[in-house]
Amino acid sequence: MNSTTVSANITPTPVTISTMTITPAAPVSVPSGPIFDKGLANTIVAETQMSFIDGGKGVLEYVGIEIDALARNSTFEETVYLLWNTKLPTKAELDGLRSALQAEYEIPDAIYDMIKSFPRDAVPMHALRTLVSALALHDLDADACGTDAAGLAAAKRTSLRLVAKTPTLIANFDRHRQGKAFVRPNTSFDIATNFLWMLNGEKPTEAMSRGLDICLILHADHGLNASTFAARVTIATLSDMYSAMTTAVGTLKGPLHGGANEEVMIMLDEIGSMDKVESFVKGKLERKELIMGFGHRVYKAYDPRATYLKTFAKQIATDTGNLNLFNMSQGIEEIVLAAKADKGIFPNVDFYSATTYHCLGIKTDLFTCMFAMSRMSGWCGHCIEQLQDNRLIRPQAKYTGPHAAPYVATADRR
Ligand code: CMC
Repeated sequence: MNSTTVSANITPTPVTISTMTITPAAPVSVPSGPIFDKGLANTIVAETQMSFIDGGKGVLEYVGIEIDALARNSTFEETVYLLWNTKLPTKAELDGLRSALQAEYEIPDAIYDMIKSFPRDAVPMHALRTLVSALALHDLDADACGTDAAGLAAAKRTSLRLVAKTPTLIANFDRHRQGKAFVRPNTSFDIATNFLWMLNGEKPTEAMSRGLDICLILHADHGLNASTFAARVTIATLSDMYSAMTTAVGTLKGPLHGGANEEVMIMLDEIGSMDKVESFVKGKLERKELIMGFGHRVYKAYDPRATYLKTFAKQIATDTGNLNLFNMSQGIEEIVLAAKADKGIFPNVDFYSATTYHCLGIKTDLFTCMFAMSRMSGWCGHCIEQLQDNRLIRPQAKYTGPHAAPYVATADRR
């Protein structure tokens, strides 16, 4: 072998191995090694152009537009376009996305058959996770996603399908468990209207559709929350979009994440009336138990989604005769803030969504599915961003076990 010079960045002096001379390049800065960051609270692992959060000031923007402006003026479809294209659509672009989504609302007959096979008492998030995964079996494009132009185009096509079909999966699982006939999607409706149409078998009022539409806008994306991170970890292995979304649905399910909205409703049911709020909440605080729907890893001020939802929840609770629910929620908030606001504990998005979903006629155990229906758009957008600039996500664990342990034969173990 001829003498070959290669650069290395660790050893400062040339080393000759056999006939090969390794000569170091100019010194480079070598990281001091991984840092231990439990819960990854201080670690940035990806870039995004979709949502910006200032947790100290309570700001959330999608592509620079304040969430409040979007909740007031936008629609879920327009928000999805904004997140996926980092610009608001023209009318023609929005019409194009709407038609493309509508064309994908329907699910294969085999998936309806699969829903029929599910136990009626299945937890809806288990059903949704299984169904999202099963969609891959009927999509010839499922493994076409990748980092080149063709792979990215495939990932975008799959994203459209996932966002369009998720409401059909949820609504028809809910019908199945009640022994009701399936309701096929109506491809002339927007996503919120179509969902309520399938869920209830009748066209919702405009106010109900708009209420759900606003919830979908508010939940669409939120930086690198746990489920979005999980989705990015999966797609970064160059797996596929269905696998990434299945991971994400499973991660969202936990009560510390998307499952909190169901827990809030369970808590409101348990409290039952305004006169019991104070003793219930104070008792929980004294026992150092979590009050669901409060606190956030990033927000140490009022979650701006909760600000909007609080006003909205009051309105819809008044309109639907559920003001007691809103009043109890407000009562809980006052007591928690008096005790915890100085520690940065405020209501998060899940707190007033519970009252809102209840007033929209959605069953408590479907609340987290509602979150998934919306966040599917953010998860897909993040996976596309990941594919556009991919690197395997692979942190390290700090080993805390023993070293140099002897291997003990089975007969000698105690
Ligand atoms: N009720 C009472 N105390 C709380 C709460 C709460 N909901 N949340 C945090 N704290 C206390 C916590 O006990 C800790 O106190 P101390 O310093 O005395 O030990 C302090 O605040 C810091 O909390 P943490 O658990 O270190 O904060 P974290 O960033 O690890 O956790 C959280 C954030 C969202 C998991 C947590 O606030 C929580 O469990 N909240 C209740 C569940 C919930 O509402 N989750 C929805 C989150 S927002 C939507 C979403 O992402 O899905």
